[in-house]
Amino acid sequence: MKLLAPSILSADFSHLSQQIRLTEMGGADIIHCDIMDGSFVPNISFGPIVVEAVKRVTKLPLDVHLMIKNPEKFIEPFAKAGANYISVHQEEVTHLNRTIMMIKDFDVKAGVVLNPSTPVSTLTEILEFVDYVLIMSVNPGFGGQKFIASTLNKIRQLNHIRSEKKLDFKIEIDGGVDKSNIQIISEAGCDIFVAGSSVFNKDNVTAATIELKNLL
Ligand code: DX5
Ligand code: ZN
Repeated sequence: MKLLAPSILSADFSHLSQQIRLTEMGGADIIHCDIMDGSFVPNISFGPIVVEAVKRVTKLPLDVHLMIKNPEKFIEPFAKAGANYISVHQEEVTHLNRTIMMIKDFDVKAGVVLNPSTPVSTLTEILEFVDYVLIMSVNPGFGGQKFIASTLNKIRQLNHIRSEKKLDFKIEIDGGVDKSNIQIISEAGCDIFVAGSSVFNKDNVTAATIELKNLL
């Protein structure tokens, strides 16, 4: 099952509920919420108040990607705001096992994220505990950047480890995903596809969503 997760970072925030509705009409599976603190990444986005508002306008699961310092402090507010998935960066969390368990204690799917330059080998000890691994295919902080093609190998490696060790975590990709590369990413073994500008920076958001879904 391949799932498309539009990232609202690139949406028109003055019409957020309409924008989400347009992706629902195109068959979006998950809504991806990018949380940035201006410290872990060089940009600020939004917090639990907006996630809670998004929750009220959609029945789709919410995937909260924490690009913040000390993410463990904010798991509870995002879980209470209605997150169904929460991911934290490997690069930022000291006690990753504890933080992953904390997310799961809220009955939320727990994910770990790797920046483009962080190798898959850093996850050896955590893979059996996570529900998903998010591979960044751009340096986090902004929408609309170019896909870093070498990250495809990380998807292949994870897919290989997953079958070899008979694990069942999902693999998610985030950054620069569009109609030109979504199929090759899928063939590498990816399950969840985040797409921001290739969905929302289009005249017809529903048609763009349908086009990406049809390629999966
Ligand atoms: C980047 C964010 C992404 C971003 C993707 O830091 O994590 O989710 O919104 O945007 P596109 O698809 O435009 O690269
Ligand atoms: Zn993201």
